[in-house]
Amino acid sequence: MPEKTINGSTIHYIEAGQGKPVVLVHGFPLDGRIWAGQIKRLAERYRVIVPDLHGFGSSRAADPSSMQSMASDMHELCAQLNALPAAVGGLSMGGYVAMQWYRDYRADIAALMLLDTRAQADTLQGKAGRDQMVKLVESQGTRAVADALMEKMLAPENFVAKGEVARQLHQIMASQSVDAIRWSLVAMRDRLDSGALLASISCPTLLLFGQYDAITPPSIGEQLQSAIARSQLQVIADAGHITTMEKPHDVAQALRDFLDASY
Ligand code: MLT
Repeated sequence: MPEKTINGSTIHYIEAGQGKPVVLVHGFPLDGRIWAGQIKRLAERYRVIVPDLHGFGSSRAADPSSMQSMASDMHELCAQLNALPAAVGGLSMGGYVAMQWYRDYRADIAALMLLDTRAQADTLQGKAGRDQMVKLVESQGTRAVADALMEKMLAPENFVAKGEVARQLHQIMASQSVDAIRWSLVAMRDRLDSGALLASISCPTLLLFGQYDAITPPSIGEQLQSAIARSQLQVIADAGHITTMEKPHDVAQALRDFLDASY
């Protein structure tokens, strides 16, 4: 399995295809498996790199992370792979990482794909929720976190219509380490607000949101669209928060169309 030592930790990644690099960053508390439905289609034309963030999936880490350190990891991984500048996509927490990457190393991002994410920092209530979830994972483990998050992850109808996707998603969440979950909860709680960054984003940007996303609804995509100059919004019908797993073909096509036209 390909991996690199990055900032003192081991980052695992999948690589497929050839061409301009496209990096896809997963959300919380997930790993690169959420992009399984997009890799083949994108790899027909691009060099697709799908990492597992600090401590998630097959990546191994011994120290806490921050949003800045996760962005630095992704940037350094691409530097080691000679894959810069890149088109960078991120779903939800992966979008927070992508925005931090843009803040810190914007010259190395040629196009952005922000899926089911937001620019705002956590509210006070949101921060308290992160602290509660840290307690939950420490006291009851990762399955309890997966149980608690499950309800908001998919469009309601997809729990029945896509039972296998729901089962897989729960399994991916429950399989993460306690450390990865608690470190990333603190990283999200303490992340910077990216609202002021949006007006400075000058690369082509795709905003992709699930129609029934209960965590980051399409109205957030509309706000991002009005703030980012060269952006376009696409709403994925009949999908919730984890669009990549709920509607893999539609998302793959949307990413591909965007990249073919803009990158
Ligand atoms: C995610 O899917 O990454 C999370 O919903 C992000 C968050 O909790 O803010």
